[in-house]
Amino acid sequence: MSVSPITTPSKAKLSRKGSKAIPRRDIHFKLDDVDLKTWNPHGQHVSQFMNALSIVFPEGEKFFIESARHFKDQLKNPQLLEDLQGFIGQEAMHGREHRVYNERLAAMGYDVAGLERDSMKMLRGAAGKNPLNKLAATCALEHFTAVLADVLLNHPELIPENAHPEMRAMWMWHAVEENEHKAVCYDVYQSVTQGPSAYVRRTGMMALVTVLFWSRVFQNQAHLVRRDGIATDWRGWLQFGKFAFTQPGGLRHALKPYLDYFKPGFHPWQHDNRALLEQWKARYDQREMDELALAA
Ligand SMILES: [Fe+2]
Ligand SMILES: [Fe+2]
Repeated sequence: MSVSPITTPSKAKLSRKGSKAIPRRDIHFKLDDVDLKTWNPHGQHVSQFMNALSIVFPEGEKFFIESARHFKDQLKNPQLLEDLQGFIGQEAMHGREHRVYNERLAAMGYDVAGLERDSMKMLRGAAGKNPLNKLAATCALEHFTAVLADVLLNHPELIPENAHPEMRAMWMWHAVEENEHKAVCYDVYQSVTQGPSAYVRRTGMMALVTVLFWSRVFQNQAHLVRRDGIATDWRGWLQFGKFAFTQPGGLRHALKPYLDYFKPGFHPWQHDNRALLEQWKARYDQREMDELALAA
């Protein structure tokens, strides 16, 4: 993997919320001149697949924050409390930036509000009102995002270097932070519930959420490509199939780490990708510092 030269910023200059390991990076991405239909060089069906993912993020991230924050007062470990703060800060920034992204999609005539509403109805319906079920659904979706994000960082050719630079930067930033905070909700869950019932709830919710999450993402993608008039373009679908399952094969690479979640002793940091994260995260520290310097 080629990573461009980076400068490590002076941490003292950054005024940040969140924990040292999970900093809230307040970064703004400039998407004004992005052609959202074709921004990913793997083709329009791939671009719309990633746009379909973006549509579920802001409301989903709001749900994650709500579900984890509910247990804040039950946590005794000061480090976990600090990490929870970092997690909330990072997800809030993701929600903000993906909302800007999604507003641009809405301005192109796609029914983003309707798709968001349907996604949330499904997630809230599945988790119900029980706070532990909501937290288990959050842990499941956090595992999904961490696994997909790890695949993206390991296979940056999923968003090739000739993609729009701001789109690439935004997706990679999100991928880095999803991995930095990947264990927070899981650790909260383990702090508030243990034993066989905790395992059954965690894995049962993962099975349910897997079906719902992918059905929602593909329904979103179907809406987007229908509106573009390319729903029956089989060459485009073949290109998407290749992207997802063969070369680079994003979803194929995600299968094994996804399945690890069902092991009784699973913990997100068993997928230890700290060395990989080190290669990526300094560029976003630097970018945040540049933005702060500009604003000063
Ligand atoms: Fe996120
Ligand atoms: Fe997350």
